Amino acid sequence: MIIVKNLVKKYGDFYALNGLSFEVNENEIFGLLGPNGAGKTTLIHILATLLKPTKGGAVVNGYDVLHNATKVRESIGVVFQAPSSDDILTGYENLKIHALLYGIPRGTREKRISEVLKLVGLEGRKNDQVKKYSGGMRRRLEIARGLLHHPKVLFLDEPTLGLDPQSRESMWTYIKEIVTEEKVTIILTTHYMEEADMLCDRIGFISNGKIIALNSPSNLKQEMGGDIVKINFIGDIPSTETFTRFDFVHKVELEENTAIVYMDEVNSNMHSLIKDLKGVRTIEYKKPTLNDVFLRLSGDSLSGDSPEGGFMQRYAQYKKS
Ligand SMILES: Nc1ncnc2c1ncn2[C@@H]1O[C@H](COP(=O)(O)OP(=O)(O)OP(=O)(O)O)[C@@H](O)[C@H]1O
Ligand SMILES: [Mg+2]
Repeated sequence: MIIVKNLVKKYGDFYALNGLSFEVNENEIFGLLGPNGAGKTTLIHILATLLKPTKGGAVVNGYDVLHNATKVRESIGVVFQAPSSDDILTGYENLKIHALLYGIPRGTREKRISEVLKLVGLEGRKNDQVKKYSGGMRRRLEIARGLLHHPKVLFLDEPTLGLDPQSRESMWTYIKEIVTEEKVTIILTTHYMEEADMLCDRIGFISNGKIIALNSPSNLKQEMGGDIVKINFIGDIPSTETFTRFDFVHKVELEENTAIVYMDEVNSNMHSLIKDLKGVRTIEYKKPTLNDVFLRLSGDSLSGDSPEGGFMQRYAQYKKS
């Protein structure tokens, strides 16, 4: 449904996108993750034909974003990072204007407006001015608007930004329903890792304008190197070899009084790992989350070539998490 090839976007001498290539399948929810300023919004704007690439190109629904922009625009719906509905108009009026702009025929217009309002649970509030909506209702209205003209692809740039946990969870339900009922392909960006894990079939991780990882959430977590065990010692910490001599240990990070061990199958291997250790104060164990993946990847990309820098940063972030 989307093909991105060697995409470059420069602002002056600065590379906002630096040679991106990837593909998105039909009916997929594809997540774009990455630190602030990574280039996610820039990428969405290019795919939505609102920005021109400096080099490279992209094809959306079979249409080239540079040479067939009108066809691309007919194929897509966009919910921008910044709110864009008119708040002195009612929800219904916002949708009607959009329907007129998109040339949705009079015969189907009202039916379609009702359909999308129902899809996002706003039928009961359609005649209220948007300024009287909550943040979550505004976001849902914008999604309804993006869907009005039956797009093949829907771009959602941080659809749950600023929503409370309950509104966020209900937004996830709406997004999942949209994929099944409207048969759209969704590209979404988010800084909420739980959301990406819950919704996305695959995730492309962007950093400094490049894709540095692309996989399903479960494979990304697996690539962390297994379960994470954090052992804190009262006194001196043992050597790395104390842990790496076991085949089931993939990696060890040592810092002050703590060893972080990445290993297979904690349930069967924990006993062997700890039985000869002296002076253990505490042991914590967790399965890697997408948050760990994010911190690892952004740590690596921020620290450049320095392994120490990468480790210190990761550990500081790990302790915070
Ligand atoms: N019009 C512009 N002129 C100059 N630089 C820009 C412009 N628009 C974006 N940038 C820069 O391009 C980079 C990518 O920005 P972009 O908005 O795509 O990031 P993002 O990944 O969406 O970040 P966030 O998670 O904060 O939304 C940033 O360094 C930003 O400052
Ligand atoms: Mg952005």
